[in-house]
Amino acid sequence: MRKLLHNIGKIWGMETSDKSFYAGVEMSKVQSLSNAWILIEDGKILDFGEGAIPESDEQIDIEGKELLPGFVDSHTHAVFATERSDEFVLRIKGAGYEEIAEAGGGILNSAQKLRDMPESLLLKKARENVKRLIAHGTTTLEIKSGYGLDLESELKMLRVIRQLKADFPITIKATFLGAHAVPLEFKGDRKGYVDFVIQTMLPAVIAESLADHIDVFCDRGFFSMDDTARILDAGAAAGLPGKIHANELGYTGGVQVAVEKMAWSADHLEYCGQEEIEALRGGVTMPVGLPGTSYFLGIPYAAGRNIIDAGLPFCLASDFNPGSSPLANLQMVWSLACSQMKLLPEEAFHAITLNAARALRLEKECGSISIGKRADFVISSLENSIRNIPYYFGQNHLYRLFIGGEEWNLNP
Ligand code: NIG
Ligand code: FE
Repeated sequence: MRKLLHNIGKIWGMETSDKSFYAGVEMSKVQSLSNAWILIEDGKILDFGEGAIPESDEQIDIEGKELLPGFVDSHTHAVFATERSDEFVLRIKGAGYEEIAEAGGGILNSAQKLRDMPESLLLKKARENVKRLIAHGTTTLEIKSGYGLDLESELKMLRVIRQLKADFPITIKATFLGAHAVPLEFKGDRKGYVDFVIQTMLPAVIAESLADHIDVFCDRGFFSMDDTARILDAGAAAGLPGKIHANELGYTGGVQVAVEKMAWSADHLEYCGQEEIEALRGGVTMPVGLPGTSYFLGIPYAAGRNIIDAGLPFCLASDFNPGSSPLANLQMVWSLACSQMKLLPEEAFHAITLNAARALRLEKECGSISIGKRADFVISSLENSIRNIPYYFGQNHLYRLFIGGEEWNLNP
């Protein structure tokens, strides 16, 4: 069965080479085709072009609208029990994120609520979160554990993510983040908790094949470079690549450990100077900025501009979570990267598409309009979408959405 999308005003983001990501000045160019069509077979792109249309079994009129690849969110915490708007208000009144965490709020607050919640209810809430992400154009999604912090609750979170993989047509990847914070039971014994993560949690996660990657919150007041190196080594020995939280709260060496351990990505980078940029150069680790977090916590933005100017690739993600970034909208991430990190709209577009796919090593499957990739398409309600989606910030510009070649109902 060949399905044809025709009367496409413009296709943005085709890639005909087998490029894995864009780096440096390459990030400022986006390819486009006008008056275009796309042929789909078995949920994948069979061909695309402009002008005269090929034969097909089914035709879908795109009404002259513009089409972009579905967005890729490579860093979220989309499974959580409840919002933390009480902490939002405390921060408005002057409390700091780290201060709240030290007082037992923050991640530990989320952990307490998640531990108390039955798996069925957690799943119900997580489904709503995933629907919200999809409604804003996300068609590939990473979700982390890390609000359980005991064996059963971490497994509960990861089982919820496994169920989400089965429930939704988008691609979902799971990351085991046992080392997100030291739970109360291990207060004052961080090393003991790291041993527990490595010796007890990780084998259980592996036994049920519940994770695709492993993560550590390597930062001031959370886990050290040594803890991170140990956990990444244990993950690698068990077949899990690393994707780490690094340099959100200070210059803590997280980027350097990530690069040394060949982590797939180092995420946050609110504190990223020349030493971190030098470390990234020549490594395989994708730098990932999370501007929703900087916006919401009022902390510095990652140095995306300097990273790209150094000739490196750069990726953006939402960090969707109840504490530091309740943002399920990559269009807003795109806009924040432009206005706050000084990325060009074109650069930020690649950062939420092909480069984000690369952060998950899914660049052969998604992230651009290329033959053989999944037919995941955002149909925009705007013209000149590459500029105008981040320009008209804070709104949802989805007109239609296709996931694996099937139209997703945006108004259920
Ligand atoms: O990526 N920084 C660590 N983890 C999350 C926030 C977690 C929370 O506050 O619940 C983040 O920002
Ligand atoms: Fe995060």
